[in-house]
Amino acid sequence: MNILVIEPKYFDVKYSINPHMLDKKGNLNTVDTSLAFKQWEEVCTIYKKLNLNIYHFEPLAGCPDMVFCANTFLAFSKDGKLQAILSNMHSHFRTPELAPTKNWLLSQGFEVHETPDEFKLEGTGDGIWNYEANELFLGHGHRTNIGVVSFLNNYIDNIIPLELPDPRFYHLDTCFAVLNKNTAVYIEEAFTTDGIRTLKRKFNDLIRIDLKEGIKNFAGNLFCPDQKNVIIQAGATNLKSELAKRNFIIHEVETSEFIKSGGSVFCMKNHFL
Ligand code: ARG
Repeated sequence: MNILVIEPKYFDVKYSINPHMLDKKGNLNTVDTSLAFKQWEEVCTIYKKLNLNIYHFEPLAGCPDMVFCANTFLAFSKDGKLQAILSNMHSHFRTPELAPTKNWLLSQGFEVHETPDEFKLEGTGDGIWNYEANELFLGHGHRTNIGVVSFLNNYIDNIIPLELPDPRFYHLDTCFAVLNKNTAVYIEEAFTTDGIRTLKRKFNDLIRIDLKEGIKNFAGNLFCPDQKNVIIQAGATNLKSELAKRNFIIHEVETSEFIKSGGSVFCMKNHFL
């Protein structure tokens, strides 16, 4: 597995584009930037320990969310060729992230397809692969819009749309993660009745995350790169014990500073096979 990370050099909470970015009084959260850097390095250390291939490129000044590089593209391969759909961000604050991302993708030999202006797509924040089943789950409603399916269908055959009705779960990766072809975790409150039915049909072992662990610990934002190791924000006790029962190897990390911006492990990287 190949991992792209972007260091949190300019990371901060400078605007609010999701409900997690504000404190109880409605003010922008305050980030401890040196702590954020340490937390980010710890996450990278785990990727190194797991022998994943790590890539990075320089962030752009004035782009405080660029560390969340999951959102700027969706990678896949077709006919043995690396491909990426470049996102079209919902918020104008994040649009400047796209040009350097496109340059990097091209420099790595990706064939890049740009999301047309009339659609919104936020990369693997909303597009989550079940690689073994060759299916893409696509969250929509807040950032990504459902119309984009007609564009994605030019490249990707099996797309399973999942509507996200709750603004706290504004990206699919805040409430759903695939561990292997039969196992996934989800926050039931984040989905519609139809969505829940779809997920139950797709996964024999669908593990429900407590709402509390889903919000406080961002537990739904875990990342499993290899059907075995799970990297997850520390403190999600119930989910941890469910995963341990199934013999997953758990790596807990602290991402408190990034949660203040509405992200954790899964969105602090992008990935491709
Ligand atoms: N502040 C960022 C935003 O609202 C956080 C993105 C986190 N990414 C994610 N896939 N959940 O866009």
